[in-house]
Amino acid sequence: MCSFQLSSSISALQAQLADSARTVSCLPPLQPFPGSCYSARVGKNKGLPPLGAGARGVEAFHAYYRGIFGPRWEALAAALVSPADSLPFRAGEGCEPYFMDSASILAASSLELAPGGRVLDACAAPGGKTLVLASRLGPGSGLVANELSADRRRRLAAVLDRHLPPEARRRVEVLGRDAAAMCRSFEAAFDAVLLDAPCSSERHVLGQALAHQRAHEGAREAALEAWSPARVRSLALRQWSLLSSALIMLKAGGSLVYSTCALSPEENDRVVARAVARYGKALSFDWPDYRGPGEAEKTEYGLMILPDRTGGAGPIYLCRVRKA
Ligand SMILES: C[S@@+](CC[C@H](N)C(=O)[O-])C[C@H]1O[C@@H](n2cnc3c(N)ncnc32)[C@H](O)[C@@H]1O
Repeated sequence: MCSFQLSSSISALQAQLADSARTVSCLPPLQPFPGSCYSARVGKNKGLPPLGAGARGVEAFHAYYRGIFGPRWEALAAALVSPADSLPFRAGEGCEPYFMDSASILAASSLELAPGGRVLDACAAPGGKTLVLASRLGPGSGLVANELSADRRRRLAAVLDRHLPPEARRRVEVLGRDAAAMCRSFEAAFDAVLLDAPCSSERHVLGQALAHQRAHEGAREAALEAWSPARVRSLALRQWSLLSSALIMLKAGGSLVYSTCALSPEENDRVVARAVARYGKALSFDWPDYRGPGEAEKTEYGLMILPDRTGGAGPIYLCRVRKA
């Protein structure tokens, strides 16, 4: 496709999105949080957008995120269906590049690695962040790249074989465990853990829905039609079971990065808040430097990188925590 066709189809997608977002603005008002930016909403008001128990589908989706982001939602939603940030990452000299978002590179680069340490990438496929971690390992270090899905694990292994230099590849072991239950056999086994958790992936959901509408003369797409706040809540529970297991697997003094590509605080700071409630002062937080385009937004425990403020990078939430 030539660049003119590409940009005109993106404009068409954005116009469709603006239409569906406008439809929602006719719905009853939502009592948005005070403040106008994401961090103000998350920091000052712990409430979430009130939606009816049976809320579902595209209108409920937009209403939910408008409740979080207020008038900013239209611009953010348009940025989510624009081309994603994509940088060629090389895990070593002469290696074949792997294309990924600069915010993903930052998430994996934020994990603090001790010399000679044992590192876990708990939810690793398709493997972009594993490549970043593997490229940072020093002598004597090892990385366990874990992925529950067999199909995705095969893809992960293929990515590692293709994009890592042989000596880095030898330091990575691929496992197929349920990371939420793995703590039973790996208590305090790792010096550093990256937990890039399964999440709502709103960018993906919106992109798929709009592509489907284009291909099927405006027909609505099943995944977005099935969206509900209950799905966000169930993902948040899953994320908490993964995070609590990851914290058990982390050694005292170790570093953990929790990341998602979800927009809702329910899947981000709120999951971390449950860990704070359990571990209290044993957990300490710091905020990695963001040197990308635009600005990252600080939340109570982490950073949000949102594409309407970063020239397309993200969405990524990342939280760096150290366990005493
Ligand atoms: C957000 S993706 C990870 C992306 C990856 N870190 C990357 O940068 O390419 C989350 C992954 O977690 C896997 N997953 C979901 N539940 C899991 C579990 N309980 N244990 C291990 N992996 C799981 C999913 O199959 C999916 O591949």
